Amino acid sequence: MPNINAAITAVHAWVPEDILSNKDLEKMVDTNDEWIRTRTGIEERRILKGEGLATSDMAVEAVGQLLEKKGIAKEEIELVIFATVTPDTTMPDTANTLCTKLGLTNAYGFDLNAACSGFIYAITVGNQFIKSGTHKKVIVVGGDKMSSIIDYEDRATCIIFGDGCGAVLLEPTIESVGVQDSILKGDGVGREFLYITSGGSKVPNTVETIKNKDNFVRQNGAPVFKAAVKGMSNVVSELLEKNNLGIDDISWLIPHQANKRIITSVANSLKFPMEKVTMNIHKYGNTTAATIPLCMWEWEDQFKKGDYIILTAFGGGFTWGAVLIKWAY
Ligand code: COA
Repeated sequence: MPNINAAITAVHAWVPEDILSNKDLEKMVDTNDEWIRTRTGIEERRILKGEGLATSDMAVEAVGQLLEKKGIAKEEIELVIFATVTPDTTMPDTANTLCTKLGLTNAYGFDLNAACSGFIYAITVGNQFIKSGTHKKVIVVGGDKMSSIIDYEDRATCIIFGDGCGAVLLEPTIESVGVQDSILKGDGVGREFLYITSGGSKVPNTVETIKNKDNFVRQNGAPVFKAAVKGMSNVVSELLEKNNLGIDDISWLIPHQANKRIITSVANSLKFPMEKVTMNIHKYGNTTAATIPLCMWEWEDQFKKGDYIILTAFGGGFTWGAVLIKWAY
């Protein structure tokens, strides 16, 4: 029996049209364009506007266009793994809603919450479904409507996050391409630095929690920053060592887009040249589970078959990790 690998055979993404610029934010909170650019690298973010529009609506666009681009019938998709912290509703799950909205009539799906590491967790899970031989067409989505959980009076968070969605198709291959390895990590100590207080089973929402705005994301930026740099640098080093690879063997590093200074610190600590690091945070901000597929989508034309690419992310929890892939097309 040949060794089956899970290859990424298509990628696509979608972002809403509406732009929230630093100048716009200057009118909303005590901040300024120069501070945001120099501290985060962000110039603007996209915001999903429109009554009733949710994370699944962005995924309908991203996944629908991916299938069209790849020329695959909707009925062929067997499974959707949806990484998100902004599900349309707590129940039912967003993957299920997406399957029905898009007409993926033979697919089932589930959501996966690992905050900003969601996409690399989901790729790792999808890889298992393909490698085991049980599934042949798995869609992995990373999408978040962060604007639905942001307090636009809190300058510590509203300057950072934006909305967007990206997706990849995983298919089996017996070539030595596709997902090669993955290291995922977690540590619940991070829950005091990046969190939403209410809306879960611990503190269900009440009139009081809504009045206190406890249903929005809060963060203590500095400890998150430090842990993110350390976590991503260490896990990428571990992944390289485990696979007997050096920095020179890697064609691209695709880091989670949380802060330009986090990205450059990770690259510097790994001695990874910035020209091989994807960065589009200036246009989209931190779109949580969507940042990595948004980068893959924008850099797709530059990837070559056989390129070693490392995806790395860090997020609430804390959760973090790195995935080694060999580009398949
Ligand atoms: N606009 C203007 N000034 C601001 C500001 C804003 N939006 N936010 C904070 N400041 C001020 C602070 O009040 C402080 O002023 P002081 O020196 O007079 O006290 C100063 O800027 C520095 O604040 P600090 O919080 O130390 O800034 P920082 O360099 O740590 O940058 C973040 C803040 C949030 C940009 C940074 O910590 C960060 O990116 N952290 C990681 C967050 C993240 O990635 N979260 C998602 C995880 S995946």
